[in-house]
Amino acid sequence: MDVKRPTGKLGVLIPGMGAVASTFITGILAIRDKLAKPIGSMTQMGTIRLGKRTEGRVPLIKDFAPLEDLNNLVFAGWDVNKENLYEIGIRSGVLDRRLLDELQEELVKISVMKGVFDKHYVKKLDGTWIKTGKNKMDLVEQLMEDIKRFTTEQNTQSNVMIWCGSTEIFLESTEVHSSLKNFERGLRESHPGISPSMMYAYAALKLGIPFANGSPNLTVDIPALKQLAQASEIPIAGKDFKTGQTLMKTIIAPGLKARQIGIGGWFSTNILGNRDGEVLDDPESFRTKEESKLGVLDYILQPELYPDLYDDFYHKVRINYYPPRGDNKEGWDNIDIFGWLGYPMQIKVDFLCRDSILAAPIVLDLALFLDLAHRAGMKGIQEWLSFYFKSPMTLPELYPEHDLFVQLAKLKNTLRHIMGEELITHLGLDYYEG
Ligand SMILES: NC(=O)c1ccc[n+]([C@@H]2O[C@H](COP(=O)([O-])OP(=O)(O)OC[C@H]3O[C@@H](n4cnc5c(N)ncnc54)[C@H](O)[C@@H]3O)[C@@H](O)[C@H]2O)c1
Repeated sequence: MDVKRPTGKLGVLIPGMGAVASTFITGILAIRDKLAKPIGSMTQMGTIRLGKRTEGRVPLIKDFAPLEDLNNLVFAGWDVNKENLYEIGIRSGVLDRRLLDELQEELVKISVMKGVFDKHYVKKLDGTWIKTGKNKMDLVEQLMEDIKRFTTEQNTQSNVMIWCGSTEIFLESTEVHSSLKNFERGLRESHPGISPSMMYAYAALKLGIPFANGSPNLTVDIPALKQLAQASEIPIAGKDFKTGQTLMKTIIAPGLKARQIGIGGWFSTNILGNRDGEVLDDPESFRTKEESKLGVLDYILQPELYPDLYDDFYHKVRINYYPPRGDNKEGWDNIDIFGWLGYPMQIKVDFLCRDSILAAPIVLDLALFLDLAHRAGMKGIQEWLSFYFKSPMTLPELYPEHDLFVQLAKLKNTLRHIMGEELITHLGLDYYEG
């Protein structure tokens, strides 16, 4: 593939400047100032093997693929309350006050623009920093003006948009989403099936900007926007950052299945007290999240192929809003498994994680990989980025690949493919032959 090298600044546009966005942006500023390291980011710390194991070629991914340099990233976003990123960082309670104070001067300069918001789609959120317009198309045009102004002011060469906004109510793809024509008519008629996250995505795609969806919202996973991305040759990716409990699930479940260990039930429960937790306390937003979390095990375990091991396994996911914990979530898993001759065993996982600390490097990697994909001429759904999502987008006729290690192999092989290197199959027989 012919990959153009980055030639200027990359703008990272973020609808939803909350805990994840502020942890991501503050982190990049801290890393640039050598105050911390980009732990958790494959683009910054990961390596990739090239050629045979005997060749010893294992460069850092950032030295292998022409990714944008962290020093060339510039940021802006939208939210529904008039706060600057320093204030958001303090309110979110993820990062040390000392670190935020040190970076305050840079943080307050980052633009947080008026959001496109409607409480109908996020019941537990209120805002006063909100655009008004005669219909949804008018609001989209205002978003496009924001993006154009940012591009000129910051002199960006290219941009990417990563949705880090709240989880919206559960929506299903209907007639208004079925074609670009219907969608655009829906925007002009302010159709209720079109949520704010879809409006940001449409604005991005119309301006040729790659889009990733960090939430489980339907957003870009509708025929109208997938067609637009394909026709305009823009990469898209989603949905729902894979962090915390689902990350653990996609690490443990493939291992149990690989050894033909049966599973009778998997009960997952969480407590978290950040704003995301509060939004998910509303049953309509929870339903969107629940769908995203529940699919994972079915696809990994394939009960239809392994009825003796996984038929009728019981899977339950609960999220409990518990303010004292803030962003420091605790996730418990009880896994009832069975082995040889059906003898039962149990696994208990107690994961004391930090939600936004796990999500921030994903935002970075998605921004850099989507920009790379765009320069490589890739368009539409980027399945190789499934690695980062709880509910990966695929073509309708394909099932999503959830196994983290298959996803990793797919990601690295795609990078090799983009850079014209031989793909690695892990066959390895040639070492032993002759
Ligand atoms: N580990 C994680 O933190 C994690 C993992 C997977 C997915 N997610 C998803 O990422 C998103 C962000 O998580 P968070 O912890 O930062 O939540 P948060 O509540 O701290 O931040 C979300 C922000 O989006 C803003 N917002 C909502 N609707 C908006 C709109 N229409 N326009 C502009 N701003 C809007 C809210 O005001 C809020 O500031 C959520 O959807 C969450 O479900 C997070």
